[in-house]
Amino acid sequence: MFKVVIKCSTADIRSDFIVCHITTVATMVVSPEHIRTLHRYEKAILATLERLMKRYEWVPLETIQQATGLSESEVNYRISRLMEWGMVRFNAVPYDGYALVFGGYDTLALATLTRKGTISALGAKIGEGKESVVYEALGLGPVAIKFHRVGGRSFSSARVNREYMPDSGNCPWLLASRLSAEREYAALALLHPNVSVPLPIGQNRHTVVMSLIDGPNLNRCLLEEPVAMLEEILTHVHAAYTLGVIHADLSEFNILIEDGRPVIIDWPQWMETSHQNAKTLVTRDITNLLTYFKRKYKVDYDCGDAVRCVIG
Ligand SMILES: Nc1ncnc2c1ncn2[C@@H]1O[C@H](COP(=O)(O)OP(=O)(O)OP(=O)(O)O)[C@@H](O)[C@H]1O
Ligand SMILES: [Mg+2]
Repeated sequence: MFKVVIKCSTADIRSDFIVCHITTVATMVVSPEHIRTLHRYEKAILATLERLMKRYEWVPLETIQQATGLSESEVNYRISRLMEWGMVRFNAVPYDGYALVFGGYDTLALATLTRKGTISALGAKIGEGKESVVYEALGLGPVAIKFHRVGGRSFSSARVNREYMPDSGNCPWLLASRLSAEREYAALALLHPNVSVPLPIGQNRHTVVMSLIDGPNLNRCLLEEPVAMLEEILTHVHAAYTLGVIHADLSEFNILIEDGRPVIIDWPQWMETSHQNAKTLVTRDITNLLTYFKRKYKVDYDCGDAVRCVIG
């Protein structure tokens, strides 16, 4: 039995964890109360669905029965609970079948991370983007856990923008979200500590656990010395480049400022410097940055010079 709880306030992360009320399941990680009370048969069904969804878009009831060794009534009862908790979906056409949804996938990942001791509690939501939701959590200390959500509303654009996306498969979002998390973790592992990025702590399925950066996004800051900050960011972009990595989605939204220092986040779409479009990608990253600094701080920095500095 694993134990995951959620806390309501970020102030006292060490004590008094309380279960929050969670009403939405679209981007919300599944209720910790439900994870905590999950029966072993329910866990077995989730794991079975995860495995069988490589073959089926919708896994037939009798296939679940055979794979788990449970009776039809037991499977029916357990699945109805999983559906109620937003972990599993039912589809009647072209045949009666069941599929894991993000809530179920979150549950499996949280169970594994908890079993491994990577995290022991889940905290407040601290960020949400087009393709992820980020929570504070407790590991050895405060950590951030990012649940990748590639699929559903953003799957077609993700496939266009990301070369590593699978072309087909019965459950593209499951695979795409896992690949996205693995890729982000790989970038952090490659870059830390030479580039200012969060420390990679753990990875499972579609999640990445990393150090919690205590500070706002660059777009929410009013800098006293914008030129110095811009140059420091460019130094990190250069350091990443020398390690063979281009961020490929650099912007004021993907830089956090902690104790006056920039930390670059959000790496799943990174590209190798050996890529044929490397120069275009790094130029786009730098242009985004310079445009922001020009618009907000009237800093005039030559893009060509900056690109030459970064590429070295
Ligand atoms: N390690 C971290 N520590 C603190 N906050 C974080 C951390 N990682 C992410 N966040 C917060 O979560 C937000 C969303 O994270 P991130 O930018 O990585 O994903 P995303 O925006 O969903 O990706 P996309 O740009 O594809 O939409 C960030 O803007 C930031 O506020
Ligand atoms: Mg982002």
